[in-house]
Amino acid sequence: MKILVVGGAGYIGSHCVRQIVEAGHEPVVLDNLVFGHRKAVEPSVLFYEGDLGDEAFVRPVLENESIDIVMHFAAYASVGESVKEPLKYYLNNVAATIHLLNAMKQAGVNKFIFSSTCATFGVPQSLPIVETLPQAPINPYGQSKLDVELILKSLACAEDFRFATFRYFNAAGAAEDGSIGEDHTPELHLIPIAIDAATGKRDSLKIFGTDYETPDGTCLRDYVHVDDLARAHIAAFEKLDQPGTQLFLNLGTGKPYSVKEVIQAVEKASGQKIPIEIDLRRAGDPPALYADSTLAKETLGWEVKFTELDDIVATAWKWHSTHPNGFED
Ligand code: UFG
Repeated sequence: MKILVVGGAGYIGSHCVRQIVEAGHEPVVLDNLVFGHRKAVEPSVLFYEGDLGDEAFVRPVLENESIDIVMHFAAYASVGESVKEPLKYYLNNVAATIHLLNAMKQAGVNKFIFSSTCATFGVPQSLPIVETLPQAPINPYGQSKLDVELILKSLACAEDFRFATFRYFNAAGAAEDGSIGEDHTPELHLIPIAIDAATGKRDSLKIFGTDYETPDGTCLRDYVHVDDLARAHIAAFEKLDQPGTQLFLNLGTGKPYSVKEVIQAVEKASGQKIPIEIDLRRAGDPPALYADSTLAKETLGWEVKFTELDDIVATAWKWHSTHPNGFED
């Protein structure tokens, strides 16, 4: 099969591109390289540089390449930034996605895999988070992803449109061979920031809030390895052959770790003490998010390979310690 990977030069997209090749399918990458990195994708993979919201650009790619499935990873994904710049999030994550879907409709492509998020649940009514819980995002990032989830449902009511929506928990880690990994500018995520503080690239790490109602007062998250996330996408291909497929699946390990535990894991991997500062809570942060991924297991046979935070952080450390300047190295 031929898969258009929108955002295929980004963090999760690039790991997925590799697995598409390993599974014997053909990826075609579309990325505007605003946040993606050309070096994250093998030169042998067909690459179109451009914008997903540009229908006149996307439609011929879909048609000329005879694309079977579109995977969409290209979104802004920083909770704190979304609170400060909501329009940026709605324009890119919602409006541009509508253009992508419209280009697909024009080109007659009806299979879609969408990257959603646990942030669509807001402060969940209960933990771990099952798919049936009400979705009530508390930040524009989560809302933008929920908006697209609803658009996908509407489209599937109107025509033969099939989709799998994955609600990622906290994507983490890097390829086991250390060749590709996370490289965001600016970096806002906890594990790479902790690594930068361990290596001295940053002076310190700020902990956003130590007064949450959690065992050690810091937020709990479910850190899931990026290659485990990618595996779920490949497993969904077969399902999309069936008319009427509409999947909404939570992808996490099910194990919560606090910010302080993440810092300890990075200290262990790096052998360095991380200088920390205590800061105020960050707007838009729920206290605890962790997954019940039973449905993904039942539906796709999906199980995580990386069950332990230490093992996930070790892969992140391997990537960052050998590529201190990310893909510039
Ligand atoms: N944190 C700090 N200091 C930092 C950075 C983060 O204390 O310098 C804390 C945050 O407050 C949060 C935890 O570390 O409690 C994880 O923060 P990240 O920014 O790494 O990740 P988020 O949980 O905010 O966001 C991630 C993904 C989103 C996803 C979201 C769901 O990046 O795509 O999880 O909450 F939607």
